[in-house]
Amino acid sequence: MSSRRTAPADITAAVIASFERSEDERLRTLAQSLARHLHAFATEVGLTQGEWEEGIRILTETGDITDDRRQEFILWSDTLGLSMLVDALANPFPPGATESTVLGPFYVPGSPQRSYGASIAEEAAGTPAWIHGRVLDLSGGPIEGAELDVWQNGDDRLYAVQNPEAPEDHLRGRFTAREDGSYAFLAVRPVPYPIPDDGPVGRMLAATGRHPWRPAHVHMIVRAPGYRTLATHIFDRESEHLGSDAVFAVKPSLLREFVPRRADDPERPGGIEGEWFSVENTIVLVPAEEPGEPVDPGRTA
Ligand code: BEZ
Ligand code: FE
Repeated sequence: MSSRRTAPADITAAVIASFERSEDERLRTLAQSLARHLHAFATEVGLTQGEWEEGIRILTETGDITDDRRQEFILWSDTLGLSMLVDALANPFPPGATESTVLGPFYVPGSPQRSYGASIAEEAAGTPAWIHGRVLDLSGGPIEGAELDVWQNGDDRLYAVQNPEAPEDHLRGRFTAREDGSYAFLAVRPVPYPIPDDGPVGRMLAATGRHPWRPAHVHMIVRAPGYRTLATHIFDRESEHLGSDAVFAVKPSLLREFVPRRADDPERPGGIEGEWFSVENTIVLVPAEEPGEPVDPGRTA
């Protein structure tokens, strides 16, 4: 019998080897890499028994707080930047295309279809913002019939889905691009808001000196047959927290100016009273088969 003692590296090697028989090659790659990186993490920081127990407690609480309205696991993914990383790996956009960003937990399918220029606010929710532009392909041609599925928060910081008092279809709607690709809708100027921070993710943010705020934005999913579906935001270029978004979703190409307009501005669209803002936002979609730039598998740092 050998008297050689078992070293930490022997444990790591045994776990990696245990997946060797997996017939699914991709599963083998994922499992072995996960074991390698997980063990490297524990080894690098010298993970203590107490810290490991605390980690298990946090994961258990994450499961306990998650239900069909609250998804704390996705919130971990968002606040650790993993959601944005996975999106970036899957969706390399060619130059000129509108970039994607995080979907977030407040998207509810089945928004009402609304006509060109209609308001998405079903009750007072802030200063009106006329959001308009065109949906184009990479060569600048219009994409007639593209669908824009939009949602946002109001000046109380809440999305309708977070507020049981709000009408179900408040601050959301689906619009169809016209023959020349043009679209327009009446929104309100969004405000910054904190992501749900009353659970384990919120405690992680507080314990590490991070804040839960997201900069002001309007969400959009743009769909058109033959094009890659795009989930993106319009960020208010003047918002607070652009440099420290809790979910790392700000991309400079998505910042837009909310241009202040006066009540007597001759371009004021119908349905607006008092001061308002206008926002120009062109969207460029990528063909469904467009491969984009190849992903460099080493690009993870
Ligand atoms: C949002 O923008 O709606 C959001 C995104 C990630 C986490 C929480 C909220
Ligand atoms: Fe949001």
